[in-house]
Amino acid sequence: MDLVATSVIESALAFLGRWRRVEIEIGSGNGHFLTEYGKRLPDCGLLGIETKNRRCGKIQKKIRNNGLDNVLLFQGRAESLFDRLAPDLVDAIHVYFPDPWPKSKHRRRRLFKMPALEVFHRVLKTGGRIYFATDVFDYYLQAKVLGILHGGFAVPAENLPPETTLSMFSLRTRTAGRSPKGLVLRKT
Ligand SMILES: C[S@@+](CC[C@H](N)C(=O)[O-])C[C@H]1O[C@@H](n2cnc3c(N)ncnc32)[C@H](O)[C@@H]1O
Repeated sequence: MDLVATSVIESALAFLGRWRRVEIEIGSGNGHFLTEYGKRLPDCGLLGIETKNRRCGKIQKKIRNNGLDNVLLFQGRAESLFDRLAPDLVDAIHVYFPDPWPKSKHRRRRLFKMPALEVFHRVLKTGGRIYFATDVFDYYLQAKVLGILHGGFAVPAENLPPETTLSMFSLRTRTAGRSPKGLVLRKT
């Protein structure tokens, strides 16, 4: 394997174009979910997106150590890449423990807002899923209400992939005695 990471949007788009099944994780952190999930789905092109340099270094190491040809890291902001994705391209979008921005004056910085949901809806295939988890209850409610209000999603009673429990923030949350809340939205 040669390319495990890129900050060039065109390279990420070319990678996604090589796979019949495509899934994207936004905010991959240290890459625990990305690499464990990538091992389970060798026929799926899995793109992780992360902004922080140190975390990107850890993710690249994990992809290399596991020899995962189907996983690529895009270093940059998710918004810049999603704006360039073709419609009906993506089978699943994973968003686990996005930055919570708990103070009310900072809530507008949250990733999961209606404009983002509209972009997610555009790039998902019909039947494609958004998988979301957070330990911030009002963020969970916000995501669920937005999904219902959007009108283009169903809220099926499905579980998140079991690999989500391995993510750095999932482990931290459970160690601190909090219970994360999961949500699945399916494009109708
Ligand atoms: C709270 S951490 C959760 C990391 C991981 N998902 C987990 O569960 O352990 C949120 C991550 O999202 C990244 N992030 C925040 N905004 C982002 C954006 N616009 N695009 C891509 N990544 C972003 C942060 O750098 C951080 O690593």
